[in-house]
Amino acid sequence: MRTIRNLHEMRAYSRQARRAGSTLGFVPTMGALHEGHLSLVRQSVARCNVTVASIFINPAQFGENEDLAVYPVDLENDRDLLKRAGADVLFLPTAADIYPPGFKTHVTVSDVTARLCGKSRPMFFRGVITVVLKLLNIVEPDTAFFGEKDRQQLEVVKTMVRDLNLDVAIASGPIVREADGLAMSSRNRYLSEADRVSALCLSRALSAASQRVRAGEVTAENLRREMLGIIQKEGRAEVDYISVCDPRSFEEKETIGDEALIALAVKIGGTRLIDNCIVGGKKK
Ligand code: PAJ
Repeated sequence: MRTIRNLHEMRAYSRQARRAGSTLGFVPTMGALHEGHLSLVRQSVARCNVTVASIFINPAQFGENEDLAVYPVDLENDRDLLKRAGADVLFLPTAADIYPPGFKTHVTVSDVTARLCGKSRPMFFRGVITVVLKLLNIVEPDTAFFGEKDRQQLEVVKTMVRDLNLDVAIASGPIVREADGLAMSSRNRYLSEADRVSALCLSRALSAASQRVRAGEVTAENLRREMLGIIQKEGRAEVDYISVCDPRSFEEKETIGDEALIALAVKIGGTRLIDNCIVGGKKK
């Protein structure tokens, strides 16, 4: 596996691969890799001739009081995991290349970013979309892969790609979980032993809500109330949002209808975790 740091070298590599007839898959990440990231890399390896994974801890998507300064870095291990998953290139752009002095351009997607994570992290999607657009511009992949763990991010990326006529396909992969149900996340490394136990309340709340929908519950508010009850039982948990909403517009729903997204953001001992699942008639 080759490591490329320079963006001109990255673009030259991609163009050469495509000239040679290869299809190019791209998996953007912020590192501290786990099976969730690697499942996307494997999907790319299975579908594309060449797979590029990037690691860039993007300062523009962190708020002032968030965890940018302590975000986990584990480059040697990440490199090893990517190599074993079959990636061809690790792209490691520098902050100076991505945000050169005098950087003034940001991309925003309106409406869908006003809800859920966008509401509690106002600059988050502007930072994500700007860096994703830049990375797509540099890597020029045929297909870029995103996880359903960050379902709102996935939808916002798809919206940007459609609205700006980008020539790239967006593919997604399902949420990868630990054996006990906790959705994998680089931020799980922050959890103390007690936090780790409490963190199970997210997947527990989602399972309880899905089960109630399967048993015939259609009223969104009853599901929100049940999930709130499960989460409030955990002393270490602080709810950011509990949402039963439309999976594309993220508007809150009154009834489940054909399909609904249940999404949660909860702080456990100070660590903000998210999780989600799709429920509804269509899924049955
Ligand atoms: P990061 O949190 O490192 O995630 C990189 C990709 O891995 C995202 O598409 C995310 O949805 C996916 N992913 C993370 N955990 C997952 C899990 N448990 N199951 C399945 N997929 C999972 O998301 C970002 O980085 C950044 O916002 C980025 C897109 C790289 C822009 O900076």
